[in-house]
Amino acid sequence: MAITTDETKANDDDQVYQKGVKNLCENGVTKVPKKYILPEFDRADEVLQVDLTMPNLKLPVIDFSELQGPNRSEVLKSLTSACEKYGFFQVVNHGIPNNVISSMIDVSARFFELPIEVRSKYMSSDLTAPVRYGTSFNQNKDRVFCWRDFLKLVCHPSQDVLVHWPSYPTDMRRLAVTYAKEIKNLFVMLMEAILESLGLWGATMNMTEEVEKLIKQFQDGSQQMVVNCYPPCPEPHLTLGMPPHSDYGFLTLLLQDDVEGLQIQYKEKWVAVQPLASSFVVNVGDHLEIFSNGKYRSVLHRVLVNPAKSRISVASLHSLPFNSMVSPSPSLINKANPRRYKDTDFACFLEYISSFEPKRKNFLESRKLL
Ligand code: OGA
Ligand code: NI
Repeated sequence: MAITTDETKANDDDQVYQKGVKNLCENGVTKVPKKYILPEFDRADEVLQVDLTMPNLKLPVIDFSELQGPNRSEVLKSLTSACEKYGFFQVVNHGIPNNVISSMIDVSARFFELPIEVRSKYMSSDLTAPVRYGTSFNQNKDRVFCWRDFLKLVCHPSQDVLVHWPSYPTDMRRLAVTYAKEIKNLFVMLMEAILESLGLWGATMNMTEEVEKLIKQFQDGSQQMVVNCYPPCPEPHLTLGMPPHSDYGFLTLLLQDDVEGLQIQYKEKWVAVQPLASSFVVNVGDHLEIFSNGKYRSVLHRVLVNPAKSRISVASLHSLPFNSMVSPSPSLINKANPRRYKDTDFACFLEYISSFEPKRKNFLESRKLL
């Protein structure tokens, strides 16, 4: 059967889109191609966006150094309320040196400046590959593409994965490993505080075996870093950098540069998260929602693109070891508060995302007990 010229062109275009948005921009794109144009109801409708000057809307900021001092119990209260109300908070005074943070942003930007031939060497359709360069949200499934390229780095176990990480820029491995270790430590300390905020241990209650085991599992748990690049977009209102989604792990710690773009959903509206120098954005993921039996909520978030500026972010997703089962904590279930989620592991998550177009919190919905 002869292929018509139109079909051939569509196939050629698809091949180009698979290489990413940065590549399109480098080739001088001046309009958003059809492939990236969202149906109107999926676009960022301004009516549904809230600005931060609205009374009573103050996004929570946690001072990590205060958490380590005499005010711990006060900070734990703010942490509880942030995780219940927003599923999200920002951390300042976390102790990670500024040069580690700025170097990570800088080397990430330099990775995306490399020629497409070098970047695309890491393209892979294997969702479990230790390193994966790609574009959109799930490029094998998305009907409409998003305006985002990414580099995913599996960080654990380091002795197996590091050799696969990009060898260019030549300082990337060194800087990304340093960053990954620092952010992992911060994650573990935040989880200790979150387990305390859930009442699983505390000032008057020693750590139980359950808590000690969990903390060990977090220390040795899965970690994946996603370096995101959102090039400037000629018609930003037509598309998104990332569609509304929740993250699958316990917590995501996000480092962003100084360009705005991230929004979280709060009471059916979208709230912009202002970049705060030297801070991390932390959000509750699906696994923590399951573990807390729904007390803490994994938050829907999305990314808008910018007409003039390129934006870089580095998301670090953390959870239990890859083969572990995530279940509601037995200590948080009782007659009055029965189990609300099925057990979940990574295998069932991967199976889910390879068979469906990922949308919003569908995966988590599929784990809910009716
Ligand atoms: C993610 C994510 C937000 C951002 O990588 O899962 O939500 O601002 N990133 O890039
Ligand atoms: Ni996310």
